[in-house]
Amino acid sequence: MNKRIGTLLKQKETGIQVVIKGWVRTRRDTGSFSFLEINDGSCLANLQIIADKNLPNYKDEISKLSAGCSVIVKGCLQESPAKGQQLELQVDLLEVVGWADPETYPLQKKRHSLEFLRSISHLRPRTNALGAVTRVRSRLSYAVHSFFQERDFSQIHTPIITTSDCEGAGEMFQVRASGEKDDKPFFGLQAGLTVSGQLQAEVYAAALGRVYTFGPTFRAENSNTSRHLAEFWMVEPEMAFCDLSCNMAVAEELLKFVLRDILSNCAEDLALFDKFIEKDLLNKLQNVVENDFVHITYDQAVEQLSGLNERFDFPVEWGIDLQSEHERYLTEKLYQHPVIVTDYPAAIKPFYMRLSDDGKTVAAMDILVPGIGEIVGGSQREERLDKLVSRMEETGVDPHEYNWYLDLRRYGTMPHAGFGLGFERLVQFATGMKNIRDVIPFPRTPGLAPC
Ligand code: 4AD
Ligand code: MG
Repeated sequence: MNKRIGTLLKQKETGIQVVIKGWVRTRRDTGSFSFLEINDGSCLANLQIIADKNLPNYKDEISKLSAGCSVIVKGCLQESPAKGQQLELQVDLLEVVGWADPETYPLQKKRHSLEFLRSISHLRPRTNALGAVTRVRSRLSYAVHSFFQERDFSQIHTPIITTSDCEGAGEMFQVRASGEKDDKPFFGLQAGLTVSGQLQAEVYAAALGRVYTFGPTFRAENSNTSRHLAEFWMVEPEMAFCDLSCNMAVAEELLKFVLRDILSNCAEDLALFDKFIEKDLLNKLQNVVENDFVHITYDQAVEQLSGLNERFDFPVEWGIDLQSEHERYLTEKLYQHPVIVTDYPAAIKPFYMRLSDDGKTVAAMDILVPGIGEIVGGSQREERLDKLVSRMEETGVDPHEYNWYLDLRRYGTMPHAGFGLGFERLVQFATGMKNIRDVIPFPRTPGLAPC
């Protein structure tokens, strides 16, 4: 039987013949045996295998195995007498598939810094920490899809190449065909990589009611921080006949659902993070899934922050965009819990957000979490044609270029809302990883795009 180590350790069946395929982590020799730790990526734990020195290829091969070599092992699973492991495999046959020269293999048995591992992004998934991040990321992605599919949302594959700048912030990467002439762009108009699938998701929400997109997005902002990437993944639901409070409820439910899912399904990997990456991570996550998020308005946030003796790099006054230092103060110091901030000034938000009756604020909401700051940004959308056109004009967006978007308000418009959840920030929050470059396989930041 050809099984993965994770399944075997869960089943705990002994006395059966199995074949495992994986990579050597360590080798230790004693009197008449060698003990090898094998990892196949299916789980954090290695399987210990015991190779008798009488095996025919012992001297030439097994005794030369080192970290990184790939092997196929056939043998019998038995209960382990050793402490800290339940099963071990007695080798009948061990085939070396690929050697790894111990003189040059960079992942020797010692703890490497995450900075060093970033310099070998093609090998780092073979480490415990990055392997665990990868499995948790995959499970979170699965949970995101389960959440929406179970609630009758349709997934929309929105375009990566687009001619619309959703956020209106001019942070798009341009897309040009090689040899493209300025007066004859390949797509007729100047195209770029999407900064958000929202506008296209709105098109489908106006037809299917509840939709979501989950794809890569790109921003050419020159932010070299531990929370910004030039290429990141975003989860964006869009819901017809939904207002700001319905939007906030879905976002909170989504975050709790996916975190609850990994608490049940990624316990071994989360325990590693709790021990080595963020002390008390498990308590933090448990606390988040069990308690209501805090709700405050932007006005209240400004009042609270400006009443403090705290010195911020950016002084707080009504009208400023909350900076990361402010967001983190609110969620880490004042509330020590996720905080939803609503009703931001219109002047600091994009054209599509719904103008409130006060004429000054929009029906926006950001969710802030400890250790990260903003993890979700969303709003109720402006469904009134005249107001939307004025907001476009005010923010320097040409309404003629967005005629298709305005049609959604001309024909059967309805209140609707949605949000964007930064997927890497979610993985950071779930694993405690401090740097966003360690939660995406191949990070892209200014000056850096390995592999
Ligand atoms: O707040 P943002 O810019 O919102 C939008 O793009 C909306 N169009 C979403 C919507 O309503 N459908 O981005 C949403 C989230 C942020 O809260 C943050 O978590 C993440 O995307 N994000 C980034 N993550 C990594 N690197 C970056 N450069 C990011 N910029 C935003
Ligand atoms: Mg935002």
